[in-house]
Amino acid sequence: MSSNELISTKPPKERAFLVAAEIKDSERLLDTEDSLEELALLADTAGLEVVGETTQKLDHPNVATYVGSGKVEEIAALAEETLADVIIFDDELTPRHLRELSKRFGEKVRVLDRTALILDIFAQHANTKEGRLQVELAQNEYRLPRLSHAWGHLGRQTGGASGRSGSVGGVGLRGPGETQLEVDKREIRKRITILKREIESLSEHRRRYRVQRKRSRIPVIALVGYTNAGKSTLLNSLSESDVYAANQLFATLDPTTRRVLLPGERVCLFTDTVGFIQKLPTDLVAAFKSTLEEINEADLLLHVIDVSHYNASAQFESVKQTLEEIEADNIPTVNVFNKADLLDGDIEETRKLLAETDPDACLISAKTGEGIEALKNKIVETLFEKMVPIRVRLPYTEGALIALFHDQGVVDFIESGRSNVVMEGTIPTRYLTSYQPFFIDETFDADENEKV
Ligand code: GTP
Repeated sequence: MSSNELISTKPPKERAFLVAAEIKDSERLLDTEDSLEELALLADTAGLEVVGETTQKLDHPNVATYVGSGKVEEIAALAEETLADVIIFDDELTPRHLRELSKRFGEKVRVLDRTALILDIFAQHANTKEGRLQVELAQNEYRLPRLSHAWGHLGRQTGGASGRSGSVGGVGLRGPGETQLEVDKREIRKRITILKREIESLSEHRRRYRVQRKRSRIPVIALVGYTNAGKSTLLNSLSESDVYAANQLFATLDPTTRRVLLPGERVCLFTDTVGFIQKLPTDLVAAFKSTLEEINEADLLLHVIDVSHYNASAQFESVKQTLEEIEADNIPTVNVFNKADLLDGDIEETRKLLAETDPDACLISAKTGEGIEALKNKIVETLFEKMVPIRVRLPYTEGALIALFHDQGVVDFIESGRSNVVMEGTIPTRYLTSYQPFFIDETFDADENEKV
């Protein structure tokens, strides 16, 4: 048997046909073409083979079929011609869209939307218990309003390539006068409640662990960035470990933490986070709260940017927007421009240009190791040497923070009140996030202190 024959015994990939609509006046980060390209990469990550694509300009989505009815006919013909198994829309479809489109395209081809595809990829890559629970929760929440009588069909819709669709685990018994659909919905709701409870208890456990870590005062640095920017590769390079890095979207789903020794014998914890992506539905972001919580607890963020990507600036903005949404935008951040090895032209020239616009930025190649030492020095400088001004009102119950300010910071002003003390001065950046809950805004009046 030849090696070709051996390869051909692998199950063939499912064939995907992609559809995008350019909706007039809609606010989008990427244009339709770029967004379709990203959808193709998502499909590839999910293990599908892209066999064709089409777009349509619309004033607004059709309420029944998303694209116009003529376009639906055209897509059906193209899907048949390209032997597509699945048609993927580059947007989140309403339950009605899914129903109508499935009816029009018939039994032979499935209809998926962007959200279902992302959920499927998440399901394939969730490796920890918490990650799996969160994916199952998001899948059930997605499925509930879309549930129709075609139960098995919907199971396939969100389960897709992973085979780990987080099904509700069998159908419950039907009560008097209850339709099968009602039973199914009841079962899903029950499962959602259980999942939420389990996730909450796991996240409580994680919170306790984090408090311990804060006490041990090891600074935590979170790597954030658009998907595929090179976060896992950078974590490998920094820690010389072997965190999985793949040229696929969302290779990282669960936060991975590594201990790294920085210059001057400084120990830090580096944590990798899930890659950001445009059009990530808000409820999906919520489902991945544990990963995002890690970001909020970090003392420093490294925003990793793929400088070689043609859309680097849109990706940069998209990540910043998400950081704002999760209220992590005031954590000190170092911008790390990665994949410098892929840049054409003079790297030193680029470095100079960058230094003019963002003096704290680092230009590196996580792959070749170029610029990594400079990045390590920048982290040490930012976290341990740079002092930042703060103004806080600390309750006396926060004795450790009051002592830390005296010990590690420079106190310019102090006023003791009945139940708390107001302190003003500078502290090393690494402690900034510990004081954040106690910040006083600019309009603060010192007399206020006594009234509290
Ligand atoms: P997600 O898990 O999707 O968020 O991705 P990530 O940001 O963790 O990216 P990852 O480290 O998995 O890298 C994505 C791809 O970019 C892989 O194929 C890496 O080998 C490649 N890559 C990362 N850094 C560099 C670099 O400096 N130069 C080059 N040429 N390729 C890189």
